[in-house]
Amino acid sequence: MTPAIQREDDPPPAFHSKHYWKIAVLANIKDDNMSKPEGVPPDAFADFDHIEMVDALRAALETDGHSTVFIPADRELPYTLRDEKPDICFNLAEGLGGDAREAQAPALLEMLGIPYTGSRVLANAISLDKTLTKRIWRDRRLPVAPFQEFLIGDEPLRAELKFPLFVKPSREGTGMGVDINALVNDEKELRERVTYIINMYRQPALVETFLPGREFTVGLLGRSDAKLYSRHPEWYEKDGFHRFPVLELDTSHSTTPWIYTNEAKSKDVGEDGYLGYFCPAEVEPELEKKLKYLALRAHQAINSLDVSRVDIRLDEDGNPRLIEINTLPGITPDYSDLCLQSKAEGISYEDLVLDILYLGAGRWGMIPPHENGAKRKP
Ligand SMILES: Nc1ncnc2c1ncn2[C@@H]1O[C@H](COP(=O)(O)OP(=O)(O)OP(=O)(O)O)[C@@H](O)[C@H]1O
Ligand SMILES: [Mg+2]
Repeated sequence: MTPAIQREDDPPPAFHSKHYWKIAVLANIKDDNMSKPEGVPPDAFADFDHIEMVDALRAALETDGHSTVFIPADRELPYTLRDEKPDICFNLAEGLGGDAREAQAPALLEMLGIPYTGSRVLANAISLDKTLTKRIWRDRRLPVAPFQEFLIGDEPLRAELKFPLFVKPSREGTGMGVDINALVNDEKELRERVTYIINMYRQPALVETFLPGREFTVGLLGRSDAKLYSRHPEWYEKDGFHRFPVLELDTSHSTTPWIYTNEAKSKDVGEDGYLGYFCPAEVEPELEKKLKYLALRAHQAINSLDVSRVDIRLDEDGNPRLIEINTLPGITPDYSDLCLQSKAEGISYEDLVLDILYLGAGRWGMIPPHENGAKRKP
């Protein structure tokens, strides 16, 4: 008998073995022309997706025979899910407000018993909170820059934090709250910026040592049993993970040199002031190994699942330091870092998103494990 409340360690519910599913794409959509409510930061909603991304994702999922529907991750979500009854959700929902918005849709789906892709509630909640994430990494002895969280703004600065420092909101993404003034050189600039972040973004400010070196991002796909559910078991190494080629950001031509700001992120590829990138990055084999090793450790430390992207910068001695992890990495074709990384090694957009789907579906018991990877069709 199925227990009324599914515990963490219960087996997943036994699912009908349908070959084609109704997949709901969950996302928060922005329209660049939409007016913003009063009192929100100038870059509010920057982490939302464009409808074109949803269309591209749906088209990719449909290439394998599934039907799809787009469900906005707004306050109607519980009711729309009840009406649409999807077999599985492809989760890209950023959520709305609060201290763990990226965990809202997963929490609701867990409650309703609806399968979904990617990380679960806790990992999505932790990764949104950069300070908490760094505390966990530090506890695992993973390298992070010295940091301090400011809740009020007038807390004394700890001695290990030496100028120049970098100030950012503790719970944003897509470079929100990061502009040229994020880099502060003295006590006065620090206090001004910290106060601005706390008041404008209504959340703690995270202050870190400024990392002056090269910036990389490492994409990961998989988990220990990924080969059993993937359409491409050959992608995955012995430990079940696929490491995408390292992408290096070329910030030298950006309107905000050396920093990946929201302003730079909002520009189209090739537009003046847009950040360039190198993928695969030209890195010493030793450094490449280290970056991929750290990304995987960072991913595992917060129990991320199936897909993530880890940002890393080099400190003044050239040592990599973890900046943050994105458990809901953007997947806009030919634009998002993860898509650029998979394209760089010849993996098509369709193959990328279908593997994210089947890894998720496998976890929820929707496809049987197969020693030669997922073979769903008769
Ligand atoms: N300690 C630091 N030293 C130097 N630069 C930093 C530091 N922390 C962040 N940055 C710069 O600010 C950018 C944005 O920071 P971060 O990755 O934490 O924010 P984000 O908005 O969550 O990014 P994403 O778009 O990847 O979600 C980084 O890509 C990097 O260029
Ligand atoms: Mg980042």
